[in-house]
Amino acid sequence: MVEYTARDRLKLLLGGASSLLLASCGGGSGSSLPAHSSTPPITTSPPPSGGTGPVTGLLRDTFRNNFRIGAALSNRRVDSMDLSAQLARDQFSSITPEWELKPDVISPNPGEYNFSEADRVVDWALENGMEVRGHALLWHEATPDHFLQGSPADIRARLEEYITTVVEYFRGRVSVWDVVNETVSVDIYRGADGIGPDRRSVWFNAVGSADYIDWAFRAARAADPDALLFMSEYGTETPLKRQWLVEILRRLNARGVPIDGVGHQFHLYLDTNHQDALDAIDAVDNEFMGLINHATEIDITFYRDPGSCWQSRTNCLPTVGPTPPADMLAQQARLLRNLLNGFALKSSVESVSFWGVRDSDSWLNTSPIERFNYPLLFDRNGDPKPCFNAITDQSYVI
Ligand code: GLA
Repeated sequence: MVEYTARDRLKLLLGGASSLLLASCGGGSGSSLPAHSSTPPITTSPPPSGGTGPVTGLLRDTFRNNFRIGAALSNRRVDSMDLSAQLARDQFSSITPEWELKPDVISPNPGEYNFSEADRVVDWALENGMEVRGHALLWHEATPDHFLQGSPADIRARLEEYITTVVEYFRGRVSVWDVVNETVSVDIYRGADGIGPDRRSVWFNAVGSADYIDWAFRAARAADPDALLFMSEYGTETPLKRQWLVEILRRLNARGVPIDGVGHQFHLYLDTNHQDALDAIDAVDNEFMGLINHATEIDITFYRDPGSCWQSRTNCLPTVGPTPPADMLAQQARLLRNLLNGFALKSSVESVSFWGVRDSDSWLNTSPIERFNYPLLFDRNGDPKPCFNAITDQSYVI
């Protein structure tokens, strides 16, 4: 059974009904959006003197009645207070440390715990009034070998010790944890040995099952009963991945595993149909009453490469160059407006984060190959892009 909190019940009683009512009363037209959550208002301040950028707080204020709006940020940017850190401070209400909370940074060697990297970005976010999303307690790509040595019982004890130590350390500071990241199968077809719904990752192979997911959630809940616990996944906008996610959620539910929500990464393409992403939210809402949805890593790439580009760096699309084509910027803006307006109508969506602030921050400039990409809200100079204007001003013509 999913464990319901008083907050969940209140949200169920008030949230869905009020957002639908407001929408039917004309919310969503003009520059305002329908309200659905109890997120406290953040006062809009005047623009920084001499600045030509958006008014301070415009982005988070636009969505203050709907969801927190977040960005991934590294302590490196915070240390130097570069343009991305300044924009994050001025426009966002949630921060996801980009890599500082991953196990390969915190515990690269057995028994070692290094919190200094994470402390800097976590404390900076809190000092600036932002929520911190902890990402991620378990991810196969950031798992040092020592986590996986020995018998399943050894692995379980080590995982529980790690999660207990980390979650207790950040108790009261990190309010949301992605407990597991990318544990859903990536195989396309079912039926053969070793295929879906659980990813055959190093964790699955070492443990011999997906029970490690249960262990991780139970340890996190015990270490901080107040933190919200999420399962984070990419590709939930595609029906098959979504179906497997739902299968896993059913299993966790049946076993009484303490989970509060689903983090949908939403690494999207210019031609992604926004309805597919909204369907992912509905799939969770329709079956798992009380679970929260977060969009956790939004970016919209300019390249829909064939699979071979990701697998072997072949047949990748050529760079569009150092100046983004206007029609692609407009397509991106339309998608993002439709997406966020859709989220605003769903009371279970409580946080929406981007994987970076400026286009130059993005991993998509180097993955799968090096080329110019434009996946985020601000351009390389820190100026707002059409997609920023499209979501903060409903009258902005795309
Ligand atoms: C995945 C991970 C993130 C980040 C991105 C891009 O989505 O969940 O932590 O590493 O890839 O690099």
